[in-house]
Amino acid sequence: MIVLGIETSCDETSAAVVKNGRRIFSNIIASQTELHAPFGGVVPELAARRHIEAIGYIVDQALAQAGITLGDVDAYAAANGPGLVGALLVGVNYAKGLAFAQKKPIVGVHHIEGHVCANLLDTEKGEGTSECDLSKATERTERLSPPFLSLVVSGGHTVLLDVRDYDTYNVLGGTKDDAAGEAFDKVARVLGLPFPGGPEVDKLAREGNPSAIRFPRARVGAYEFSFSGLKTAVMQYIIKNKDYNAADVAASFQQAVVDVLAENAVKAARDKGYGDIALAGGVACNRALRAEMEKACEENGLRLWMPPPILCTDNAAMIAARGYYRLLSKPAGDGWDLDVFPERMTDTRGTV
Ligand code: KG4
Ligand code: ZN
Repeated sequence: MIVLGIETSCDETSAAVVKNGRRIFSNIIASQTELHAPFGGVVPELAARRHIEAIGYIVDQALAQAGITLGDVDAYAAANGPGLVGALLVGVNYAKGLAFAQKKPIVGVHHIEGHVCANLLDTEKGEGTSECDLSKATERTERLSPPFLSLVVSGGHTVLLDVRDYDTYNVLGGTKDDAAGEAFDKVARVLGLPFPGGPEVDKLAREGNPSAIRFPRARVGAYEFSFSGLKTAVMQYIIKNKDYNAADVAASFQQAVVDVLAENAVKAARDKGYGDIALAGGVACNRALRAEMEKACEENGLRLWMPPPILCTDNAAMIAARGYYRLLSKPAGDGWDLDVFPERMTDTRGTV
């Protein structure tokens, strides 16, 4: 089954062609970073307008790079939430238009479930695989399959998911306040680093000492997280210590985030009796998090899965992958009344 995936939930316009939920034929990503940088954050109205300008071209590129035409597409999958409503509407309506014209099914995809499914994509380069940089993935010959535990760390979410099967993503717990990515972006801002801040903190932290400052680790429950106190502690430290070492602050802050993430993920996997942890979301690009998760999983006899960085941040290949499994269980897809939703996963599903 060839699925054309579309992702427009935030500030990346992306389209991808994926076969059988595994093989990436193309994964085109147009980032709007430059558009939003002067504002220090994503401006929803500007994001939606730029998606409208870009979507047609990006879909055409995805088809061209995959070497197929619309007639070869078996089904369409579009991220329909959570995210910015105006931005989501662009991708969902464009996908609806294509599906309607081609008389093919369309499914809406939960963006966070999409992030998890980035771990199901093949990452070795093969025939028909695009130029998209798939190096630095977990190198494995076997494939991940449910049940497994997933830690999703993105700009809006920090959740532990019990992935029972390809269609069941139960929330074990999430953040009580800020998401991990949000904390990275805010700390970057107080350190005077450019937007988007997460990768900048990651870069700066490489020159710093992670044990230089002992920032607090909030332990609010086995499967829950809280990063707002840590963010405040960083701000107070900067105010009190005028000649602070920015690299040490970045490294120490990052270590405080990463420690709690790894600790809770390992605990959840052990409690569930799972042998696999799948890391996902933009913050999964973070070098310290990847290293800490590797260490923690090795110590506890767990297998760690993490996509290459290009599949951790927002992309349409992960949406197509998740869409494939929705289509297997619902071949007719969703109705033409398919809508978008902005709410966080933890607000809509509760915890189990
Ligand atoms: O998953 P994503 O691309 O979009 C959302 O669904 O939110 O995640 C974006 C988040 C941003 O907060 C960004 O700063 C963070 O991921 N991020 C990082 C790194 N790369 C991206 N945070 C820490 N270290 C990184 N290397
Ligand atoms: Zn995302």
